[in-house]
Amino acid sequence: MVDYSQNQLKQLCGEYAYKYVEKDMIVGVGTGSTVKYFIDKLGQNPGLIKGAVSSSEATTLLLKQYKIPVYDLNSVGEPDIYIDGADEINHHLQMIKGGGAALTREKIIACASRRIICIVDESKYVMKLGKFPLPVEVIPMARSYVAREIVKLRGMPNWRSGVITDNGNWILDIHDLDIVHPIELEQKLTAITGVVCNGLFAVRPAHELVLAKKDGSIEVIKNKFI
Ligand code: 5RP
Repeated sequence: MVDYSQNQLKQLCGEYAYKYVEKDMIVGVGTGSTVKYFIDKLGQNPGLIKGAVSSSEATTLLLKQYKIPVYDLNSVGEPDIYIDGADEINHHLQMIKGGGAALTREKIIACASRRIICIVDESKYVMKLGKFPLPVEVIPMARSYVAREIVKLRGMPNWRSGVITDNGNWILDIHDLDIVHPIELEQKLTAITGVVCNGLFAVRPAHELVLAKKDGSIEVIKNKFI
């Protein structure tokens, strides 16, 4: 048996996500190399959906290249579905996101959407979140204050130097976190003044996970807890 490469698995789950798309939907679209495969598939039939809500400038560019109408979230209300990758996802379908620095717009669209579908390859499906450093978007002038507050939560913040988010902010990546209670940690980080958003998606986890396994098969896991 030949194992698939990580890129091939990203393509498999990205293209599989097209099955969730129905005529005239408003589709929230995430950011990253996995969701790019979903956009490529959607781009083969751009007239199917009413339009998309985009989570980043990079995704907007791709959608526009395929002539998929891109709407402001404020003008569409509740997107029917939100499709995105993740950096890690656990068995409660809680996620760490933001490896691509797009976490704030991603979380806004995810929270506003009716259903969240996460697409990942098997390497990102974990028992416990936290091996992947947790991204936090901060207002630039608050960087060192927020970093000190994060140390009090027993994390090791690392400034992702040189990266400016689409919102004009900076990213701190928190290493060495022991994430036993993801919801509590998400809420604690959200409460720090100067934090715009953190990459834990636990308060509102995914409704379904499309998991591409290393033998090339797809497993769809539904969230039993929501
Ligand atoms: C971007 C994200 C991405 O969904 C996450 O980083 C996964 O990216 P990829 O599909 O390229 O592995 O959260 O902010």
